[in-house]
Amino acid sequence: MKLRTLKDLKNISGKTVFLTADFNISLENGHIGNDTRIVETLPTINYLKKRGATIIIASHLGRPRGYDAAFSLKPVAHKLRELTKTDVKLIDNFWEKKALDVISREKQKNIILLENIRFFEGEEKNDRNFSKHLASMADFFVNDAFGTSHRVHSSIVGITEFLPSYAGLLMEMEIHMLSKAISSPKRPLLLIIGGAKTPEKISVIERLLNIADTVALGGAIANTFLAAWGFGTGRSLVDYEMVEMARVVFWKTTRKHCALLLPTDVVISDMERKAKPKVVPYTHVPHNVAIYDIGPKTQSHYRELIKEAGTIIWNGPMGLYEDPRFRKGTDTLLESLASSSAFTIIGGGDTLTSISKAKYLEKIGHVSSGGSAMLAYLEKGTLPGIEVLLSNGENT
Ligand code: 3PG
Repeated sequence: MKLRTLKDLKNISGKTVFLTADFNISLENGHIGNDTRIVETLPTINYLKKRGATIIIASHLGRPRGYDAAFSLKPVAHKLRELTKTDVKLIDNFWEKKALDVISREKQKNIILLENIRFFEGEEKNDRNFSKHLASMADFFVNDAFGTSHRVHSSIVGITEFLPSYAGLLMEMEIHMLSKAISSPKRPLLLIIGGAKTPEKISVIERLLNIADTVALGGAIANTFLAAWGFGTGRSLVDYEMVEMARVVFWKTTRKHCALLLPTDVVISDMERKAKPKVVPYTHVPHNVAIYDIGPKTQSHYRELIKEAGTIIWNGPMGLYEDPRFRKGTDTLLESLASSSAFTIIGGGDTLTSISKAKYLEKIGHVSSGGSAMLAYLEKGTLPGIEVLLSNGENT
């Protein structure tokens, strides 16, 4: 099966393209902090603009329950206007029939941005009528929302029933980079997993045990594995529902040629983080403290692994990086990754925001726009939103 991409989309001058993007960006006091997700969609927008297509963009922001001004795409519209140097018209109530007239009038002179697509409940239900309504706005569908393509939603999956559908340039690049890392990795393949969201990450670890040479853990997920091993983790963040699953992963590891590594020393403090941070071995975490970062010995061990690796995939911070006292583990790894000659991939919302220094970012082979989507892709080798863009070579 072949992925239908923008390059298969011919004669689009004067045609309308419905473009789904992932502009799910965290807002700080109503303003956009990190605009990476918008910037990364610009190549697709510019490609379409250059070829004379009119563009309607859809995206979600956060997880609103119905209309909620706090989740409005107004700041995104503003940023998009600035970046594209084109007028952007934000359309409220886009689910109403009468919005179609406004859109067909406005799209001639503006890029159209629909308000938060999740303001309408049909989106997350992949409602067929809603999908049809969205499709009626355009001639073609382009999906550039890799970060949301693990969701079976109308603007990702449902719409493809009604329009010829293609992958955008960002989507194409994500698929190319991630599949390169897992299908023919330069060895050794090192997978570094940190952060929370243990359930989805544990499935990825289980799957990648088959192909990785080493899996190194940090962050809250490492606490869950330490707890599963029977070590005291004090008051640390542990996903107790996942402890049994972590035991299964340990057992499976014994049957694979893959090393599963846990931190050998950790940085602790009390629950309120008032006590001076202290480094202890993983076997000596007192009952009344919590783990907040990987310790210096673990950092230098992981640094050595990074130096030797041929391919590195990293998702999730090593500690509570929001607090500068517990950022060292994440920063050290990032620095080592930036100076590594391996093919490097970083993903995950948390990891992305932890990368404050652009100079490191530039040296990473690929920074994935997907958090959960990247993990799901690594686990399954595809996503629902990608499956619907595949064709057997006909009708491209
Ligand atoms: C993300 O940030 O991971 C994507 O935008 C998906 O968001 P969601 O988890 O709310 O579907």
